[in-house]
Amino acid sequence: MTKPRPELTARREFLIGAGALAGMSLMPLAGCAKSDKLRVGLMLPYTGTYAQLGVAIENGFRLALADQDGKLGGREVEYFKVDDESNPAKATDNANEIITRDKVDVLIGTVHSGVAMGMIKVAREAGTLVLIPNAGANAATGELCSPNIFRTSFSNWQPTHPLGKVMVENGHKKAVFITWNYGAGQQAAESFSEGYTAAGGSVAKQMFVPFPNVEFQALLTEIAAIKPDAVACFFAGGGAVKFVKDYAAAGLKDKIPLYGSGFLTEGVLGAQGEAAEGLLTTLHYADSLDTPQNRAFRTAYLDAYSAQADVYAVQGYDTALLLQKALEQTGGDIGKRDAVIAAMEGAVIDSPRGQWTMSRAHNPIQDFYLRRVENGDNKVVGVAWKALEDPARGCNM
Ligand code: PHB
Repeated sequence: MTKPRPELTARREFLIGAGALAGMSLMPLAGCAKSDKLRVGLMLPYTGTYAQLGVAIENGFRLALADQDGKLGGREVEYFKVDDESNPAKATDNANEIITRDKVDVLIGTVHSGVAMGMIKVAREAGTLVLIPNAGANAATGELCSPNIFRTSFSNWQPTHPLGKVMVENGHKKAVFITWNYGAGQQAAESFSEGYTAAGGSVAKQMFVPFPNVEFQALLTEIAAIKPDAVACFFAGGGAVKFVKDYAAAGLKDKIPLYGSGFLTEGVLGAQGEAAEGLLTTLHYADSLDTPQNRAFRTAYLDAYSAQADVYAVQGYDTALLLQKALEQTGGDIGKRDAVIAAMEGAVIDSPRGQWTMSRAHNPIQDFYLRRVENGDNKVVGVAWKALEDPARGCNM
C-alpha cells in the first residue's frame, strides 16, 4: 500500500476546513507537512501586455524570501508556475491545473481581473488559500469574498476613487474617461464617475477600447472634438506606454491634462520617456516614498534584478510578508486553517508603500498618494486619500 504523502495530508486538512466545515476549528492532523516543502503556485502572466507585471510580482515575492534563505515560515518553497497569458478564456483550466494537478498549498495569482474571476471560482470550490497580488476585480473582496481569498494589492474601486477629488481641486470640472473594455477598466471608470461626481465634476463620456488593443487614434480625435477640461484613464503595462505616447503625439498633452490611476506610469517610465513628464496619477505606492522600508526595498530590488522596483514588485513582496506572518504563527504549518486566516486578517504590514491592514473583506486599507512624473520618477506630491477602504459591496462574510 502506498503511504499518503504528507503534503497531501496537510492539504486535505486545509480543504476540509475550507469547504464543509468553514469557520470551525480543526485538530491538527498527525504527521503534518511542517518539514516538507511548501507548495506555492504562481498563476501570473509571463507573456502579453501584462508580462512585465507578472515578472515584477514574482521578483518581489522572491526578494522578501531572500533574507530567510528562500524559505517561508522556516520551510523550503517549491514553486509551481503557470503563464495565464492574461487570457480569461483559459483561466479555469489554468487554475484547475495548478490547484488539482500540482496540489499547491497556496495559490498566488493573478494580474488580470477577468482571469482572476475564473481563478477565484475554482479556488472557492476547492477551498484553496489564494493571495491576489494584483487583480483588482471588485467581486474578489465583494460579492465573492471568502475566508480563503485574500488580496494584497487593491480593488478596482480604490485607485480611481481619489482621482476625481484631485481633478476638481485642480479646476477640471468636465472630464472624459478612457480605458480598456474589460472588468478592471469598467470598474475603474465606474469608481472614477462616483468620486468625480461626488466632488462636483461631470463625466462627458466614458470611452472603451477592446483589451488588449492599442489603437487609440479614433478616440483621441473624438477627445479633441469634445474638448473636456481633462482626461482620466486606466491603462497598464505595454498598453500604457502606447497610450501615453499617442496622447502626446496627438498634440493633446499640453492642451487637455491627462490623469490616471498610477498604473499608467508604473514600470514603464523609461519606455514612455518625455511623453510621461508631468502626468498626475493616484496610487497606493510611489517610487520616492522616503521611508526606511521603501529605501531598503528599492536598493535590494535593484541589486537583485538590475531593475527599478514598481508597484507590482511591492505587491509581490507584501504577499510574501503576509504569508510569512501567518506561517510564523503556525510554525510553518499552512494546514492550520483557522490560525492562518486569523493571522492574515490581523496582520499589519510594514510595506514599502507604507503601513497597511486587512479590511473585513480581505482587501488592503491603505493610503493613496498623488504622484507626479518628474525626471522619469513617480514623485510623491501628497496623500490624496488617507486609509482608503473598499466598500466591499455584496460581501457577507
Ligand atoms: C486588473 O486587470 O485588475 C489590472 C491589471 C493591471 C493593472 C491593474 C489592474 O495595473
